[in-house]
Amino acid sequence: MLEKQSVVIAGGGSTYTAGIVMMLIENQEKFPLRKLTFYDNDEQRQKIVADACEVIVRERAPEIEFSATTDPEKAFTDVDFVMAHIRVGGLSMREKDEKIPLKYGVVGQETCGPGGVAYAMRSIPGVIELIDYMEKYSPKAWMLNYSNPASIVAEATRVLRPDAKIINICDMPVAIKKSIADIMGLKHENEIVERYYGLNHFGWWTEMTDRQGNDLLPKLKEHVAKWGYSAAGDELNNPLLEEASWMDTFQKAKDIYAVDPETIPNTYLKYYLFPDYVVAHSNPDYTRANEVMDHREKNVFAECKRIAENGTAKDTIIEAGEHAEFVVQLAGALAYNTYERMLLIVPNNGAILNIDPKAMVEVPCIVSKRGYEPLAMGEIPQFQKGMIEQQVSVEKLVVQAYLEKSYQKLWQALTLSKTVPSASVAKEILDDLIAVNKEYWPELV
Ligand code: NAD
Ligand code: G6P
Ligand code: MN
Repeated sequence: MLEKQSVVIAGGGSTYTAGIVMMLIENQEKFPLRKLTFYDNDEQRQKIVADACEVIVRERAPEIEFSATTDPEKAFTDVDFVMAHIRVGGLSMREKDEKIPLKYGVVGQETCGPGGVAYAMRSIPGVIELIDYMEKYSPKAWMLNYSNPASIVAEATRVLRPDAKIINICDMPVAIKKSIADIMGLKHENEIVERYYGLNHFGWWTEMTDRQGNDLLPKLKEHVAKWGYSAAGDELNNPLLEEASWMDTFQKAKDIYAVDPETIPNTYLKYYLFPDYVVAHSNPDYTRANEVMDHREKNVFAECKRIAENGTAKDTIIEAGEHAEFVVQLAGALAYNTYERMLLIVPNNGAILNIDPKAMVEVPCIVSKRGYEPLAMGEIPQFQKGMIEQQVSVEKLVVQAYLEKSYQKLWQALTLSKTVPSASVAKEILDDLIAVNKEYWPELV
């Protein structure tokens, strides 16, 4: 019998929470729960999701003690795992992160370029606050954080809370591997054994085999060169599709791959390698934040309200979030010592030999009760080394700017971003971002 766990989901009102709950319930054999708590700082938003999840838990796993609260002491006491996915400033600030750079012809994206920098300046204090609650009320707990921008948040936690039991994670490699599994005719992405190096939303695969050790790359490369990560013949670029922008991203992997056919790229590299294309294909009046607000947020919340009103979720369309599956896998590895091999965002310490040992990198790690142990990826080629070092510097400058309240360093961070053409454009964007982030950022001097 596995020991039962107590989990708090921080960001209970997230559009992903209901899917995570479904996933947790489906995985009771692998990762049994005794307690599930929601925590959020927006009581009303969280209530919409919590009222529905209460019904779901009652119907499907009544043995789990479920509650929702905005009180940190209640939320973080007697907890084994904190699953954190907060969005400080909400989707309305995401919209500003995306639209302001676009005004200047620069990539407007949630985690890449100036948008990611702006989001980081809001996220850092929010995530640090969660760590402090966890350390105060449940010092033995682990935090699994996927609040974005995970890369800069990870650097901030490395600097500000170096001893905290936090692991930063991302589902993009998992999502890409899902497509690759489809392309290669594998049942599940867990059948892929990988070697990968980089930063979060900024990395490359060097090896992929199946569990029997067969090399997947020759056939995969042929496919990616033609179709990116889309299935052959997928209908692409239809602006009426809810996920139109994601379909474009999966297709664009073909052009990223062409830049370095030795490796298989993360989709997010499109923002750094093809910023001109991205800007030309963005609508400055309707960005991904609008897509999410008009679709995912509306649909999830409408369904949650319907469940709460009907008092049953028997016929619900909410599905176990794919994005949650690897979180359960990670928590299970830490709790039950499975020695699972997973991509995590961790201090480099030589895992990538020829870059800063103090960078936060995304590499395969072995996960057990001991925590995570990164695998050595060795030396990386000049092209990737150059890109990574530039981006690491951006991320470190953001964290330094946050700590020192330094306008100068934040300007330097934006200037150094590969997505920004000049120091003057960086300054114009920065001044606009400061104006709308007054409520969230420290006052810069
Ligand atoms: P959302 O706005 O729907 O939900 C976020 C929730 O966090 C809201 O209910 C909000 O009230 C709450 N919140 C904000 N600040 C808080 C604070 N300081 N303390 C407690 N709660 C707070 O956002 P979403 O679209 O569901 O995304 C949630 C987060 O997950 C985002 O950061 C997103 O970028 C991230 N995400 C990460 C990955 C990954 O790969 N790492 C994947 C998907 C989503
Ligand atoms: C992927 C990334 C996340 C990001 C999300 C955005 O899952 O790994 O880091 O937050 O995409 O998705 P959205 O649907 O909100 O644009
Ligand atoms: Mn991510």
